[in-house]
Amino acid sequence: PVSVFENPKAASLSVAHRIGDLIKEKQKNNSKAVLGLATGATPIAVYAELVRMHKEEGLSFKNVITFNLDEYYPMQPDAAQSYVSFMNDHLFDHIDIDKNNVNIPDGTLKLEDIPAFCLNYEKKITEVGGLDIQILGIGRTGHIGFNEPGSAPNSGTRLVTLDDLTRRDAARDFGGKSFVPTKAITMGIGTIFKAREIILMAWNKKKASIIKKAVEGEISSEVPATYLQLSDHVEFILDQDAASQLT
Ligand code: F6R
Repeated sequence: PVSVFENPKAASLSVAHRIGDLIKEKQKNNSKAVLGLATGATPIAVYAELVRMHKEEGLSFKNVITFNLDEYYPMQPDAAQSYVSFMNDHLFDHIDIDKNNVNIPDGTLKLEDIPAFCLNYEKKITEVGGLDIQILGIGRTGHIGFNEPGSAPNSGTRLVTLDDLTRRDAARDFGGKSFVPTKAITMGIGTIFKAREIILMAWNKKKASIIKKAVEGEISSEVPATYLQLSDHVEFILDQDAASQLT
């Protein structure tokens, strides 16, 4: 299903409140909430609202386990562009989550250690009972996570090569495209699909054409987000601009 909100703020608040409700529900049962998280511009207001709920309403994250979708490779965690820095800045440093419960693909691994790391990432997700909610943005290539065109629907966590358009879109953060890593470690489409709820968010006019393809286009590895049409537990949360080309 597709839900269209007046603006990104309203959409973000609704997603944050769903996450907050899940966390509180799990607290009642003394169980853990397992969240799949994304970085990038799209979820920033969601994280800001979760931080507000923590500070002003006492929402606790002590029972929360997180798995981020992806990280550039290679990448040092303390670099400004790392997804570790992003998550700390926007969420983890402002809430009471146990950092031992935070999982982000490791951009410092030796190449030969990546396959074992990726298998273990999948195993860890399974061991904690699977992802309750997976949050997604969408890239202009149609990527979810960093599953670029050509990704298989049953793909798992792995090392991938970033599309040229993805690197151009990241150029500003790195001070030029040539400084953007060519690779990343990402959860696979198959990993994302196992989440019990998938929420893909998109705002602004610049996402309108890829959203049209993702929601209404033919299912194809050329636009990996089209695979989401095959899931019965996915929701597209859009603002009016991102939804503007939908029929
Ligand atoms: C980020 C991620 C990417 C982004 C996508 C959109 O962890 O997996 O798929 O969600 O590139 O990025 P923004 O939100 O910056 O437009």
